[in-house]
Amino acid sequence: MTGHFLNLSDAGADAIAAMINDAIDRKAARAGWPKGKTDADVPLAGHTLGMIFEKNSTRTRASFEMAIKQLGGDSMFMASGQMQLGRGETIADTARVLSRYVDAIMIRTDDHAKIEELASYASVPVINGLTDLSHPCQIVADLLTLIEHGKALPGLEVAWLGDGNNVLNSIVEAAGLMKFNVRIGVPQGYDSDPAFIDAARANGAKITITRDAAEAVAGADVVVTDTWVSMGQDHAHNKIAAMMPYQVDERLMAGAKPNAKFLHCLPAHRGEEATDGVLDGPQSVIWDEAENRLHAQKSVLLWCFGLLG
Ligand code: CP
Ligand code: NVA
Repeated sequence: MTGHFLNLSDAGADAIAAMINDAIDRKAARAGWPKGKTDADVPLAGHTLGMIFEKNSTRTRASFEMAIKQLGGDSMFMASGQMQLGRGETIADTARVLSRYVDAIMIRTDDHAKIEELASYASVPVINGLTDLSHPCQIVADLLTLIEHGKALPGLEVAWLGDGNNVLNSIVEAAGLMKFNVRIGVPQGYDSDPAFIDAARANGAKITITRDAAEAVAGADVVVTDTWVSMGQDHAHNKIAAMMPYQVDERLMAGAKPNAKFLHCLPAHRGEEATDGVLDGPQSVIWDEAENRLHAQKSVLLWCFGLLG
């Protein structure tokens, strides 16, 4: 199906499973190749991805650039501050114009309503490279990483610690689609979006909220955290203080299953949401997770162009 990828539900469970399978196959097929070499079938030859960034990025920018390159296409990077968008041209007009130049648009922005508006005026697929509400591309990579590390998604117990943010919203959305459970350990006042929780529960996922970090991780298969201060937020002293009991350190990690994996979308704020001992420890799969952004992005692109699922 051709379409926008603003949230995981835009694709649905079958397409997400197809994305993960295709990513596994493509990753294996090019093992050991130079990273700039195109996949043998060059499925997106002649296609250009426009990428608008209203916020900083390392992984999302680099992985999308290399993803479209490996699929045989090209990318165009646009920092919003250097675009007319940054001095008042509307989202709608930007969407109409860019649709005449590029074959798909990826945008990283703040207000999710902006990406919805862009998608409604674009005549090419629009991809969510992170908004304040959600980060679906990250979660395709996370699910791929867990499967690679031997975890079956149905019934998996995933513990989230820290801030109830955009990454958590997409994990909760994925839980409903892929039938795993999420124990959310966040301090009072920093809960995630209830609409994602309600939808996941309606889809059969068990989503529990606790203020007790140890209870959240007890017997978990996966422990996940993210920065306590997302882009656009203040590094507020009272927020950091509220988050401290939810720091993932070796002691907390020891409460999960012995074969539990640790995920972090990165960038990490070492010594805040997670300690070096956990980030660099034996249960951490964060570098595979970061690499998998590339492989997952390729699947997202192929789905948007109707070549998958
Ligand atoms: N995880 C992630 O989206 O990283 P970047 O902010 O570097 O793109
Ligand atoms: N929650 C973080 C994720 C960064 C990839 C943020 O929005 O800044």
